[in-house]
Amino acid sequence: MDITLQAPLEASRAKRLKAATNDTHDRLDKRIMAAEPFASVENYGQFLSVQYQFHRDIDGLYANGQLRELLPDLAERRRLDQIRQDIEDLGLPLPAAGGEVPFDAGTSVDLPTALGWLYVAEGSNLGAAFLFKMARALGLDENRGARHLAGHPDGRARHWRAFTGALDALALDEDEELRLADGARAAFRRVHGLVETA
Ligand code: HEM
Repeated sequence: MDITLQAPLEASRAKRLKAATNDTHDRLDKRIMAAEPFASVENYGQFLSVQYQFHRDIDGLYANGQLRELLPDLAERRRLDQIRQDIEDLGLPLPAAGGEVPFDAGTSVDLPTALGWLYVAEGSNLGAAFLFKMARALGLDENRGARHLAGHPDGRARHWRAFTGALDALALDEDEELRLADGARAAFRRVHGLVETA
C-alpha cells in the first residue's frame, strides 16, 4: 500500500516557517550549546556578544514605517538596548562596530525578507525560557545580565502568538513567501556565523 504523508497545506505561515528552518535551528542550538554558554559568566559574555551583533544587524527594522504598519507593536519588540545593558552589567566591552549592516535605518528594505529576519529574532525569545533558567543559575536575572532573555509580562507564548498572528494575517504572493523563508534562513546563517567567529 502506498501511503504518502504530506504536511497539511493549511498549516499557518509561522508553522511553515518553523518547518523550513527546523534543521538550521537545530544546528545552531547544538553549536551554541557545544560552546557551553552557561558554564561561566565569561562564556555567557560571548553569547551576549553574538546576540548583540545579531540584534544590531536588524536594529534598523524596528524604526521602519512600513514594517510598523504591518506589526503595530514592533517598536516594543526591539531588544538591542536590553542586550547592551546585559553586557554593561557584566562590565564587558560592547562588540566593535563591524562591517556591513544588512538593514540600515532609512534605506528601503524588502519587506518579506525583513519579516523573515524578525521571525528569527522573535522566535529566539520564545525559545529563551530555557536559556533564562540557565542564566539564573549563574546568578543573572531580568534585572542584571539576563534582561534580554526574560519573558514578556504578557507571557512568552502569548507575546509570540501576537507576532505570529500578525505574520499569518499578511497577504503574500508565492514569491514573497519564498523571500520570507529565505530571510529567516539567512538570519539563522548569520547567527551561526557570529557564533563561529565568537
Ligand atoms: C542554545 C540555544 C537555543 C535553544 C536551546 C533553543 C530552544 C528553542 C526552543 C525549545 C524553542 C521552542 C519553544 C516553544 O515552542 O515553546 C525554540 C524556538 C525558536 N527558536 Fe530557539 N533555541 C536556541 C537558540 C536560538 C537562536 C540563537 C535563535 C535565533 C537567533 C533561535 C530561534 C528560534 C525561533 C525562530 C523559534 C521559533 C520556532 C517556531 O515555533 O516557529 N533559537 N528555540
